[in-house]
Amino acid sequence: MRIPIIAGNWKMNKTIAEARELVGALRDELTRVAADGKVQIVLCPPFIALAEVAARVKETPIKVGAQNLFWEVKGAYTGEIAPPMLNEVCDYVIIGHSERRQYFGETDEGVNKKTRVALAHHLTPIVCVGENLQQNEAGQTAQIVGAQVRAAFTEIARDDARRCVIAYEPVWAIGTGKAASGAGANAVIGLTIRGALADLYDEATAQTIRVQYGGSVTPKNVAEFFAQPEIDGALVGGASLLAADFIAICQAARK
Ligand code: PGA
Repeated sequence: MRIPIIAGNWKMNKTIAEARELVGALRDELTRVAADGKVQIVLCPPFIALAEVAARVKETPIKVGAQNLFWEVKGAYTGEIAPPMLNEVCDYVIIGHSERRQYFGETDEGVNKKTRVALAHHLTPIVCVGENLQQNEAGQTAQIVGAQVRAAFTEIARDDARRCVIAYEPVWAIGTGKAASGAGANAVIGLTIRGALADLYDEATAQTIRVQYGGSVTPKNVAEFFAQPEIDGALVGGASLLAADFIAICQAARK
């Protein structure tokens, strides 16, 4: 039984004061939603608000995640954040989001290095994969997404892989209001992503790893995704900035 996981990726939104306000609006209701362990909820604010958000959800079942990390543990890497720094404030880290691949030059190799270091420091990676519009229209989805999964998990042992979460986020669906169809996302996750994991490891491992869908998830369309057998929750961007919407999405995950 895979427990669904809903992560709110706040991206580059919310000052510390605004983060405090949003977490204040989320905390009590999300605590109720997550109390019996049937759904896991993770808030991923910008680095600068991590400690503030973490302090406010301490002693609740709500977890906190970072949106990125660097693969070295310390040193002369101006502007970067190391895994031991994250250990103090959070349990999860988003790795290889398409915006990082697109605007900050992240490669499959870098995603693999970050995933390995996160695991070594007891952080749960949320590894993002997904094809862009051109690749989708050219019928290359399986090839691209399969290659991203194989690259991300290079030299990662089976027990470590089982601790990871994967987010399938078609790039054309992110922030566009054009979500994938539930059946379409289910097929990519079931056939391509779990297929690649079964090749890399074994069928049991492929069935153990949780795979979220991400891309224009809203309270209106979320039921369609959560009804799919291969989809284990959602990585939510825009709708995670609105307390009522994010709460509604988390509630839907219980059904
Ligand atoms: P969106 O973003 O929900 O705003 O489409 C999802 C994501 O980028 O994780």
